[in-house]
Order: sequence, then C-alpha cells, then structure tokens
Amino acid sequence: TPLKIAVFVGSLRKGSFNRQLARAVEKLAPAELVFEHVRIDDLPLYSQDFDAAYPTVASRLKNDVASADALLFVTPEYNRSVPGVLKNAIDIASRPWGTNSFAGKPAAVIGASIGATGTAMAQQHLRNILAYLDMPVLAQPEVFIHFKDDLIADDGTIGNDGTRKFLQGFVDRYVAWITRFAG
Ligand code: FNR
Repeated sequence: TPLKIAVFVGSLRKGSFNRQLARAVEKLAPAELVFEHVRIDDLPLYSQDFDAAYPTVASRLKNDVASADALLFVTPEYNRSVPGVLKNAIDIASRPWGTNSFAGKPAAVIGASIGATGTAMAQQHLRNILAYLDMPVLAQPEVFIHFKDDLIADDGTIGNDGTRKFLQGFVDRYVAWITRFAG
C-alpha cells in the first residue's frame, strides 16, 4: 500500500533551494511513497482565538497532516532558527489544544542553505519542536546541504554524484524509518 508523505517546505520563495531539495529527495524515493506538498502560504498568523472556530484553511492543514502516514520537513535557516512561516504552520496544525495532528507520526528534517552550516541550527530547533509534538524523528543521517549554484535543478535533478549518493542513503533510511511506524 502506498505511504502518503506530507512535505513541509519552510520557504515561500519561488526559486527555493529547499523546494528543489525536496524534489530531489522525492525523485530518489520508491514509487510506493506519495509526496504531497502542504500549502502554508495562505495560512493566517495563528491566534488562540481560532480555537473556538478554526479557519477553513487551518482545518485543511490539519487534515493534510492527519491523513499523512509520515512527514518530511525541508527547511531553510532564518537567523539561526526556523522560518516564521514554518513555525506558524506547525503551531496551527498542533492546535486546538488536545487535537495535535502530528502526534505519533514519523518524520525527518533536512535542509539547504547558502551558508556553510547548512541549516544545522534551524534543524536543532525544529527537532526540539517536533519532539514536543510527540513525533518520532529520524536521527541519522543528518542532511545539511550547502547549496551552490547548480547543485540541484528545478526538477530535482542532482548535478553531483556524491550528493546523489548521500541523499539516496538518507532516503533509504527514511523509508525504513517510516515503514516501522506504518499501519
Ligand atoms: C537567511 N539565510 C540564512 N542562511 C543560513 O545559513 N543561516 C541563517 O541564519 C540565515 N538567515 C537568514 C535569514 C533570512 C531572513 C533570510 C531571508 C535568509 C540565507 C538562506 O540560507 C538563503 O536565503 C536560502 O536560499 C533560503 O532558502 P530557500 O528560500 O532558497 O529555500
């Protein structure tokens, strides 16, 4: 049976390197994995007032997460942490209190940066958030991609043998990880 992966890309930028990284990973995955990019660009800024009557788009996000077997977070680092748009989406899907849509879903965190530290600090912050939200997150391999010009094309083609092998190794571990929690 196919496994549905809800993909959170933490950048809204059209030419996002992290979206390209997400596509590269998807191309390396076996056919039984179905990836769906979760829409986060039309979400309102979370307010606890929502909890009384959740906005339609916020409920849509919760459904996207609830109907997924696993999560994949692909995020840039903004000011040494998680971009606000991603944190906002996570906050929305984690609420109203007692209805955390992420609970128990296996996940992985990867990211690309134009800086040499490759989103390492943002990923550490994100792991802390996901742990609190009761998600088993793949520990290894860590994926800190130092993105240079043509490392990955728009369609996800990887222009470098070493990076392709490394990402294939990640995908294999990710598939094994989420399969452990399936069904
Ligand atoms: C950045 N960038 C950045 N890079 C990094 O390695 N560490 C950081 O802390 C930051 N901080 C940061 C803050 C803000 C507000 C912006 C706009 C950018 C640079 C970042 O890596 C670069 O813009 C990437 O291209 C962003 O990822 P996408 O949009 O290409 O996926």
